[in-house]
Amino acid sequence: MALMISELEQTAAEATARLADVADLDALAALDAEFLGKKSALTTAKKQLGGLDPDERKAAGQAVNEIRKRVEAEIADARARLTATARAQQLEAERLDLTELRNDIRRGSMHLVTQSRDRLEDVFVGMGFTVAEGPEVETAWYNFEALNIPEWHPARGSFDTIFVNLGEPEEVMLRSHTSPVQIRTMENTEPPIYIVAPGRTFRTDTADATHLPAFNQIEGLVIDRGITMGDLAGTIDEFVRAFFGGEVKTRLRPSYFPFTEPSAEFDISRPDGSWLELGGCGMVHPNVLRNCGIDPEEWQGFAFGFGIDRLAVMRYQLDDIRELVNNDVRFLRQF
Ligand code: PHE
Repeated sequence: MALMISELEQTAAEATARLADVADLDALAALDAEFLGKKSALTTAKKQLGGLDPDERKAAGQAVNEIRKRVEAEIADARARLTATARAQQLEAERLDLTELRNDIRRGSMHLVTQSRDRLEDVFVGMGFTVAEGPEVETAWYNFEALNIPEWHPARGSFDTIFVNLGEPEEVMLRSHTSPVQIRTMENTEPPIYIVAPGRTFRTDTADATHLPAFNQIEGLVIDRGITMGDLAGTIDEFVRAFFGGEVKTRLRPSYFPFTEPSAEFDISRPDGSWLELGGCGMVHPNVLRNCGIDPEEWQGFAFGFGIDRLAVMRYQLDDIRELVNNDVRFLRQF
């Protein structure tokens, strides 16, 4: 019996020695099986206890249990130590150095049209306007009729409208200008009104150096008391100055739009002294005010609209408006 216990003590000492060197959790599992498993000396000894005298059995049982507990505790210690090491190694391996400075990263930027639109909004907001938006698909009422362009009106033809075939009962189209947002705003808002409405517009134009079938406009609308053509001219002058800088001049030329009376086209000066047509404008037609439930005897106003893409072409001196939609990064990256 004493022999058995001293053998177990030797086994335990061997376990201690080998646990000191154990390299990882797999090796530990193997040691666990070897020293505490079914075929281990400790388990075998425990089974043999049954064959001993009761006196001897008690003392031997206590000794075997004591040795087993010790080995178990040492294995538990080793497991805790190896788990902590494995975790630390994993953390180290997965660590990201966020302090590293890189100079090979290219930052993206907003598209040129978006930048132009944002700048325009800023300029007009600075002048006291708020930004309004409307749907890109419109009914004939908003795109034409409320704007004083009835069904028979020849101006409908000049808008090169793209229709959407939804069947009866209404004629539906992609808006051919941002002017429908004027109507929607006047229907819902009590004057005074000071809004700009930027957004996408569509016409059946074939793309060429100066046209895109899907383009962007910005509409301005002011409704207040005692508004005159002078306010319109001043507003256009002021925004062009803010957008382009002091050197660019503006002029109005008499023109015709069904929704304004009088109507004008406005041009901006080029560095070589020639003029570039930018957009249309005028005093809101009394019929348009009435269509929106606004009394033209009490309220007057002006409206203007122009292409944002064209403005970008002018400001950045592009020679082809299609560059804006070709999605060539070598072009886009320059802005
Ligand atoms: N909606 C007109 C167009 O697209 C521009 C315009 C807007 C003219 C407002 C006058 C007043 O051609």
